[in-house]
Amino acid sequence: MFHKDSNKLETMDPEIFGIIELERARQEDGLELIASENYTSQAVMQAQGSILTNKYAEGLPNKRYYGGCEFVDRAETLAINRVNQLFNSKFANVQPHSGSQANMGAYFSMLQYGDKVLGMNLAEGGHLTHGSPVNFSGKLFKFSSYGLNPETERLDYDMIRETAKRELPKLIVAGASAYAREIDFKIFREIADEVGAMLMVDMAHIAGLVATGLHISPIPYAHVTTSTTHKTLRGPRGGIILTNEEDLFKKLNSNIFPGIQGGPLEHVIAGKAVAFKEALDPSFVTYQKQVVANSRSLASSLLEKKIGLVSGGTDNHLVLLKTDSVGLSGKEAEIALEHAGITCNKNMIPGDKRSPFVTSGIRLGTPAITTRGLTEIHMQMLANWIHLALTNHTNEVVLAKIKNEVLELCKSFPVYK
Ligand SMILES: Cc1ncc(COP(=O)(O)O)c(C=O)c1O
Repeated sequence: MFHKDSNKLETMDPEIFGIIELERARQEDGLELIASENYTSQAVMQAQGSILTNKYAEGLPNKRYYGGCEFVDRAETLAINRVNQLFNSKFANVQPHSGSQANMGAYFSMLQYGDKVLGMNLAEGGHLTHGSPVNFSGKLFKFSSYGLNPETERLDYDMIRETAKRELPKLIVAGASAYAREIDFKIFREIADEVGAMLMVDMAHIAGLVATGLHISPIPYAHVTTSTTHKTLRGPRGGIILTNEEDLFKKLNSNIFPGIQGGPLEHVIAGKAVAFKEALDPSFVTYQKQVVANSRSLASSLLEKKIGLVSGGTDNHLVLLKTDSVGLSGKEAEIALEHAGITCNKNMIPGDKRSPFVTSGIRLGTPAITTRGLTEIHMQMLANWIHLALTNHTNEVVLAKIKNEVLELCKSFPVYK
């Protein structure tokens, strides 16, 4: 027995234990509005924190390069079967360590180095892995981009079709990190077919809505669908890849391992299996409906206060607030809200003249605050606090007062009891 007698983190490593406790308090005592975050369940964390972390299992269930995999095979098979049931897909790889790796595995399965790809502009809502020049995607492939219609601040499928016809990409990527409206995957597939391209959908942000029928599913339209598991889907941090095409599935599997990853994180895969089971439960539909109801309610309360929103509202779990409408940059707004106990992130908005480090917007999402039990009445309170904080952004007395009120609300809605 080479572990010290005390295996307890608290005594073994008080520094890390203390940091986790501080982070726990931060998560409990503030309102978490980062649209890509959520509070996963105790059950998911129990699986993720389990002894499955000890196991090497390179390969796929029942086809491993290591012995002793009979039990992790069962866990990974459960994860695969559950996620296919959840999204009505035929084939799934649940091994990507992250959304970025899911996207890398997908690109490597459909593209050669230097191929042309069309993705959504980062500044208008896309993700780094959709062709940003500072990301592997923009370095390895020739990306061109589509953005939003400047009038409607929504995707404009005629403009996307025109760009696709001009650029003739081999792959079109649909999906976003900061887009508050429904994405029409059917039209995306029509455009892809018209120009002889494949379609990949990255549904990372909206996976929970897709799983519960609150957003059109990409599965019937996309050749490959990727996602994270930790945003609206509320699982452990990680990625998945889904497809209905057997040939592509074989390529996807070998591009994840041995292509870009080594041993899969079987403890995280077990956590994913638990999250998929939770998402198959009818209560998950109720939760996702409340996520959208809260987002809509927050949007309309902000609009009532004359705060500008990109596209004038929302269809999903997030709202993009134009901070110029209250005379602030996104950076100033993020800091003011942080001082008021509300966490969010600055975000570029369409036509933004400021840099990504400053921006003219903030992104607000309701998945995490809905998990802790907040409903529409709280969204009005939240809009009041946001308005007050942004219009008093340097007044520390006002910000501290809001922070106290936020804390009181948080105490009534503990995340982990
Ligand atoms: C649309 C989209 N795709 C991919 C990712 C990347 O996920 P990860 O941070 O797990 O690499 C994100 C993360 O924010 C995202 O929003």
